[in-house]
Amino acid sequence: SGGSSRARGVPALPSVPVLGSLPGRCCGAAPSPALHTDLQKVGSIPKPLTLFIFIIYDLAKEVLLTRGRDFAGPADPRGKDIAFCDYSALWKSHRRLVHSALSLFGEGGRAVHVEKVYLCNDFKPVCLSSAFDPSAAVTRAVTNVVCTLVFSATYRRDDAELKEVIDYNNGIVETIARGGLVDLFPWLQRFPSRSLTKLKQCITVRDRLLQRKLDQHKASLSDGDGGIDPRDLLEALLRGQEGQKSEVISDDHVLMTAAETFGAGVETTSTTLLWIIAYMLHHPEVQARAQRELEEQVGLERPVRLSDRTRLPYVEAVIQEGLRIRPVSPVLIPHTALTRTSLGGHPVQPGTRVLVNMWALHHNPTDWPQPDLFKPERFLDGRGGRVSPSCFLPFGAGPRVCVGESLARLELFLFLSSLLQRISFSLPPAGPVPDLRGRLGVVLQPRENKTVKSREKVCVFITLKGYFRIYP
Ligand code: HEM
Repeated sequence: SGGSSRARGVPALPSVPVLGSLPGRCCGAAPSPALHTDLQKVGSIPKPLTLFIFIIYDLAKEVLLTRGRDFAGPADPRGKDIAFCDYSALWKSHRRLVHSALSLFGEGGRAVHVEKVYLCNDFKPVCLSSAFDPSAAVTRAVTNVVCTLVFSATYRRDDAELKEVIDYNNGIVETIARGGLVDLFPWLQRFPSRSLTKLKQCITVRDRLLQRKLDQHKASLSDGDGGIDPRDLLEALLRGQEGQKSEVISDDHVLMTAAETFGAGVETTSTTLLWIIAYMLHHPEVQARAQRELEEQVGLERPVRLSDRTRLPYVEAVIQEGLRIRPVSPVLIPHTALTRTSLGGHPVQPGTRVLVNMWALHHNPTDWPQPDLFKPERFLDGRGGRVSPSCFLPFGAGPRVCVGESLARLELFLFLSSLLQRISFSLPPAGPVPDLRGRLGVVLQPRENKTVKSREKVCVFITLKGYFRIYP
């Protein structure tokens, strides 16, 4: 860390005082509400918090890839899920199980194929109505996919249990996003607060539902109902328990992993899709080009398949650009140094926590000319081929890379291309364009559009008024 390395005459990483340095004041920048953009200007934070914040782009890759194992420690090692479990043999086998389960279901994509049809149908009835907020339909589709993958439930749109899942998930996301002071000062938990009470209620509902699903899965496994391949994540984890010798994946691990799949898999994917729609409303020419490609390569009749991906480089480039310009985690969950190591030639002590600024990595003007412009062509080589620059890491990299990447990519591709095949997004004639600045919650979300009212509530995202035209 800064202090100790200076004492030995080794150049320390540039550092600024902890409190008072954020947001942005130390560099003379105007205060801004967004941590990730402030940290683009601030260098690093030394002890006592032993947090380093990186703006030097090469170092991000060093943390995640070159020295990925040294920095593979979680932010808080007391968890029993993947993101917060201590780096150990147990964690590795647990992670492998989840990864293979998600990839297996992801490649099949059955659940996503069913949901994409529902999603398009959800949008159709609003073609002629006066106002529409797409976020609820998108969240429902993504949540239903995760329900199928985790415990094999495929709900109808109005199913009470699906509504329960969506409600508790939203409740958890909202209250965590509002956490603020409690995150900084955990002892504040002792004082009654409406947010914390709501969080506890949502977690109780979630745990009850997941425990019920776990009990049902255990009963059907002991009845010998399992096939050759596990049918869902819960079954994969339960079978993984059987194969364990000394270190055991406990029921708590299984439940926390199921819960984490909702936490990490719903808000991220649905928000990315909503950002892409928002950017297409700003850039109708992007939407038109993606639709032209779909029409030429797939046509308008046959449903899009995963194998069409290779023939739709522009649609893929739109997704890549969405992931670049609005990374859902502008600052990654801290990585902890597990051993004495170094970064950029500077010594780093074990226990040092590192924050990787994904926002800075994806907005560095050297790698991304005009970084604030939405330009899917960045991901094409000019001859119709794809390029993926090495500084593009929307799912992280190395030992802690996102386990849901293949599933998320599959959902983004099938949902977006199916929507664009049937629907054109456009603004009401005199309507405002979506605010692209974003609001930092659990993920970076589009801001509320407070000026426009839908029939029932203030639209979270944008009102697409009377303009859902069926394409063509
Ligand atoms: C971790 C991005 C969807 C499960 C991460 C990380 C990023 C990320 C940046 C942190 C990597 C690091 O710290 O090095 C995204 C994006 C998504 C998405 C952009 C969608 C667009 C999903 C889905 C799932 C998932 C669908 C599961 C169903 C996880 C888990 C981790 C993680 C469990 C923790 C991994 C670990 O700490 O070892 N994700 N993710 N994510 N993601 Fe995703």
